[in-house]
Amino acid sequence: MEIVICSTADEAGEVAAARVAQVASQKEGPAVLGVATGSSPLALYRHLAARVQRGDLDLSGASAFALDEYVGLPASDPQSYASIINETVTVPLGLDPARVHVPQGSAEDLRQACEDYEAAIKAAGGVNVQILGIGSNGHIGFNEPTSSLASRTRIKTLNEQTRRDNARFFPTLDDVPQHCLTQGLGTIMDARAVVLVAQGEGKADAIAGLVEGPVSAMCPGSVLQLHRTVTVVIDEAAAAKLTLRDYYAHTYAHKPAWQRFAD
Ligand code: GLP
Repeated sequence: MEIVICSTADEAGEVAAARVAQVASQKEGPAVLGVATGSSPLALYRHLAARVQRGDLDLSGASAFALDEYVGLPASDPQSYASIINETVTVPLGLDPARVHVPQGSAEDLRQACEDYEAAIKAAGGVNVQILGIGSNGHIGFNEPTSSLASRTRIKTLNEQTRRDNARFFPTLDDVPQHCLTQGLGTIMDARAVVLVAQGEGKADAIAGLVEGPVSAMCPGSVLQLHRTVTVVIDEAAAAKLTLRDYYAHTYAHKPAWQRFAD
């Protein structure tokens, strides 16, 4: 795992976008992006969009798979992840909406929708680079604590802390859905590379668990310790509880030129 600690959230977004662009450009043919909702990756998307606009990154032909979706919100609802991905990813990056996929949280047969989603990722050749945020309780996607480390796309019940964290986007807490569809931890682990971003002190415990804690279903993000190609890009506040903080900073500062992806 590579840990990059940045002085501001915006710089973290810039560095993370550089890493995503590097992996996306390494692929022969159009990239397959794994995309996340939430506030954490917004700066990353902004910097990625700037690269596309400058002509430094070609995502024409790229496809994208979102991690998760609420059950019961129609795709047209402004709080559905289908709407949010469209607004924060599809439009700014100029992706073809027909190639941007979100689990079908309003499907009549939710189990079938989950199987179809796994099949669609496979048919696209798998995800090249998965962008992730992390919940304050360590969840990635909507894989709440005690999720199977081998799980695939499925229906989950949201944890109360997650519902409270996300209540800011809804009129009241009661309006936050109870269920979701989410890619499983096993699905996420199949991505060839992962770029995870987090900012703020509210994420410091989750980041400490992800990077330095035991691999445990109690902190679902910790499964990434078993992935070969993970870049964690965080600000100082999110790095506050890392025991080896100085070592990560030293390692990044002394990266050999051939390993660099951002100046
Ligand atoms: C949501 C999403 C996650 C996201 C997390 C953190 O519950 N399902 O993919 O990483 O919350 O959100 P934020 O980035 O807004 O803190």
